[in-house]
Amino acid sequence: MKRTLGTCYYPEHWPQDIWQDDTSRMADAGLTWVRIGEFAWSKIEPNPGEFDWSWLDKAIETLGAKGLKLVLGTPTATPPRWMVARHPDMFACDAEGRARGFGSRRHYCFSHKGYFAESQRITRKIAERYGANPHVAAWQTDNEYGCHDTTISYSDSARVAFRDWLRVQFGDDIQALNLAWGNVFWSMEYRDFAEVDLPNLTVTEANPAHVLAFKRFSSDQVVAFNRAQVEIIKEYSDAPIAHNYMGRVTDFDHFKLGEDLEISSWDSYPLGFLEDRVGATPEDQRAYARQGDPDFQALHHDLYRAVGRGRWWVMEQQPGPVNWAPYNPAPLPGMVRLWSWEAFAHGAEAVCYFRWRQAPFAQEQMHAGMLRSDSAEAPAIVEARQVAEELVQAPEVQPAQAPVAILFDYDADWAWSTQPHGAGLSYFSLILDHYKALRRAGLTIDILPPTTRDFSGYSLVLAPGMMHMPQDLKSALAESDAQVLYGPRSGARDGHFSIPTSPLPPALTGLDVQVARVESLRPDMPVTLEGGGAVVGYLEVLEGQAEVVLQTEAGLPVALRAGRQTYCGGWLDGPGLDRLIADLGKAAGLVMRKMPEGVRTRRTATEEFWFNHRAEPVETEVGVLPAAGVLRRTL
Ligand code: GAL
Repeated sequence: MKRTLGTCYYPEHWPQDIWQDDTSRMADAGLTWVRIGEFAWSKIEPNPGEFDWSWLDKAIETLGAKGLKLVLGTPTATPPRWMVARHPDMFACDAEGRARGFGSRRHYCFSHKGYFAESQRITRKIAERYGANPHVAAWQTDNEYGCHDTTISYSDSARVAFRDWLRVQFGDDIQALNLAWGNVFWSMEYRDFAEVDLPNLTVTEANPAHVLAFKRFSSDQVVAFNRAQVEIIKEYSDAPIAHNYMGRVTDFDHFKLGEDLEISSWDSYPLGFLEDRVGATPEDQRAYARQGDPDFQALHHDLYRAVGRGRWWVMEQQPGPVNWAPYNPAPLPGMVRLWSWEAFAHGAEAVCYFRWRQAPFAQEQMHAGMLRSDSAEAPAIVEARQVAEELVQAPEVQPAQAPVAILFDYDADWAWSTQPHGAGLSYFSLILDHYKALRRAGLTIDILPPTTRDFSGYSLVLAPGMMHMPQDLKSALAESDAQVLYGPRSGARDGHFSIPTSPLPPALTGLDVQVARVESLRPDMPVTLEGGGAVVGYLEVLEGQAEVVLQTEAGLPVALRAGRQTYCGGWLDGPGLDRLIADLGKAAGLVMRKMPEGVRTRRTATEEFWFNHRAEPVETEVGVLPAAGVLRRTL
């Protein structure tokens, strides 16, 4: 697969007489792809049932005539104002039950049947018109499902749909639900599914089983909404269909949604993310303010490679300062190039820069583009052009299975957020901490869906924090040839959020360990480990006959091992995780490195990449890497 570049373009924002010039400049910069249309509903259908295709026909023709390939978006993230007049109850509702109004985007509830039908209607109109258009080489459904906290809705439509969903889950047997959820507690038993409300506005916390079920339902609603569009597009077009996921949006199951798509893609804003969703220390936020976290983007690249079953893109790449984080610095010179090459190192087919030209109006007027709002070049286009030139010389991507894998389970993320047990504890952060430790050891990593049962080819598999582990997964891991790391909280709950009692968690095959007690720790009460490192945030008391791999200074076991399986009952800090990973890596026969601060490496089948995320040159085993430096060598 050839690696390509692209951009996100909004022809409807600009006078038609500059489209031609824009198009030529895109082609001259070495771009292949242009994504259009995903917010243009009010221009396509200015009044209900009244369509204006003339401008979109012309835009597609202008871009296509230059040889650019189009990704055409369905505009369902931005229903026009007339739509909300037609369906006044189509808004999602927040946890207080308030409707979220018109005037920005994503103002719909996934469970609203009327809007669902409208989204099918507009999708069919667009697919009918452009499905056979030779320039439309890919599709994008909607835009960033779940962004701006829009997966969960406490609307009346959601309540009705949730009850129907529960009926199916429990075979129309309300006593089965009562039993599975433990509703005898606090007299919460229901006599009929019609009595089940949404888990908001309760006096104190709702039953975690109820909350988790509502999160699973909400995820399924997103999957169904997307599938309806995909089925329609496929009636008219053979082009691949993608969706652009957003960083650290975990409240619907991307693996399930991705099964309906040919390509997965995500929107990568490294500096915005560092400010508002990585969870970095203040020191790291300062040190990496112009580069972004060295691992956060890479983790998403690996995740979306898995979601796309090998086919994935960056649909939106940060080109300069963004507008939406608490602080919005400019990237260090070289970082746009580094981010692009990093995506390619992780197997991306395409990297598209958001956006072509900075908008002088509306919400994103402070967001950089490849061009300034006066059409002069912004720094991003210069770096994009350099990448385009380098790509001409670069070979095609030859992916390879990594030696190490981490299981990523959206359901576990919902379980942790339902019951973190300690302030700030999240599954995503636990995974990121493990991922970082693997990367500090110079390892190349695959992310795997929780449905994986065949682990052949992996030397080391990590399944931390996976709260519910089906028995066949436990068996598959126990029987694999890999070293396997579990915990904390792996296997801690059954499928309906109760603690298994006989035996106690994690109930692994071939590893005698039981979690006898759990506690969460204040940030200022780390428990130090004998030999270095500490447990932070979460600690379990472990019983069992297995070999002790790590223990506290007071002599309590923290990690236990039998054969190739290790259970760690604490959330380890960086030095603690480095020790554990070094030990597991050695047992797995992996080549372990100690990467310099901020430097990361990754291998494909034929290439090795090195990236310096630091703001100064760094000495490495492959030579001195300049600030924001990229080194690619053929193996
Ligand atoms: C993304 C979104 C784009 C644009 C961009 C700004 O989340 O998909 O439409 O808003 O952020 O950084």
